[in-house]
Amino acid sequence: MNDLMTSTESRVLADVAAQISTALARRLRRSDIAPLLEEAISYSLLSGGKRLRPALVLLCAEAAGADRAVALGPACALELIHTFSLVHDDLPAMDDDALRRGRPTLHVQAGEATAVLAGDAMLSMAFHWATDVSVPAGAVVRIVRELAAATTDMISGQVYDTIGGLPAELTDEQRLQIIQRTKTGALLRAACRMGAICAEADPLAEQHLVEYGEALGEMFQIVDDLLDVTQTAEHVGKATGKDLDAGKLTSPGVIGIERSREAVERLRRRAHEALAPLGAEADPLRSLCDEMAVRTR
Ligand code: IPE
Ligand code: IPE
Ligand code: MG
Ligand code: MG
Ligand code: MG
Repeated sequence: MNDLMTSTESRVLADVAAQISTALARRLRRSDIAPLLEEAISYSLLSGGKRLRPALVLLCAEAAGADRAVALGPACALELIHTFSLVHDDLPAMDDDALRRGRPTLHVQAGEATAVLAGDAMLSMAFHWATDVSVPAGAVVRIVRELAAATTDMISGQVYDTIGGLPAELTDEQRLQIIQRTKTGALLRAACRMGAICAEADPLAEQHLVEYGEALGEMFQIVDDLLDVTQTAEHVGKATGKDLDAGKLTSPGVIGIERSREAVERLRRRAHEALAPLGAEADPLRSLCDEMAVRTR
């Protein structure tokens, strides 16, 4: 489990995250890749992190009535994609950050070439790991398509966030929402759909879980933006206080801290509403969403 997290913030994530970290380490050890690549990926992948996306895959599978272990392959695949996105997000050509998950970023530790290549490898390995799931072939295809579409959306979001290119007629608020839904929301939404597919959930249950993921995804990035202006780098384990200077479109920057907090609360409620038709099996998802609304790192 991420040693950066405190017990109050990690109640639901704690046991799921431990299960995921063990599975990630085992899968990485079994990968037949260049030793330097394995070392680099291990440095970034096994360095902690909240494991939110893979936890969502497992907990959505469980909410749809399956054993959470059935979804471990796709869950680990999604954490690979997320970690690849972080390694590249931190590169000098992108956000140029030196601290991640409480330690030097991969390019600072091992050089830019290694960081670029480790990201490339994690991206491709993810599509291999995603197929490691015991569901009918049609469901495996849906999982892979979901992963591919969400990863592409995330990269589009990184383009909007880092380079720009959104239509000039949009307001800052509209642009911000597109960025939140793509760069961050896409992977959280996909996590929920992938969990549902792993559980062979009925279409209605899948739709409820996806709506939960959409609300949570938008909420998650608003909280991330709030942490950038309210927390220290030491506390969150990555640089803070940078978004405004870097000219980023962020929630506190566009609508202010107070309205951002209101948006978090509105989205937290929307996530709960989405789960309303589901039973007690969805309780861990309810708690997880509450925890992510008040997280401080
Ligand atoms: C950070 O994600 C990047 C965003 C999309 C905001 P997390 O806050 O989930 O990072 P880790 O995995 O816990 O390090
Ligand atoms: C990054 O958003 C989202 C990704 C796709 C990696 P940020 O740039 O705000 O994430 P942090 O704050 O560096 O973790
Ligand atoms: Mg960024
Ligand atoms: Mg960044
Ligand atoms: Mg950020």
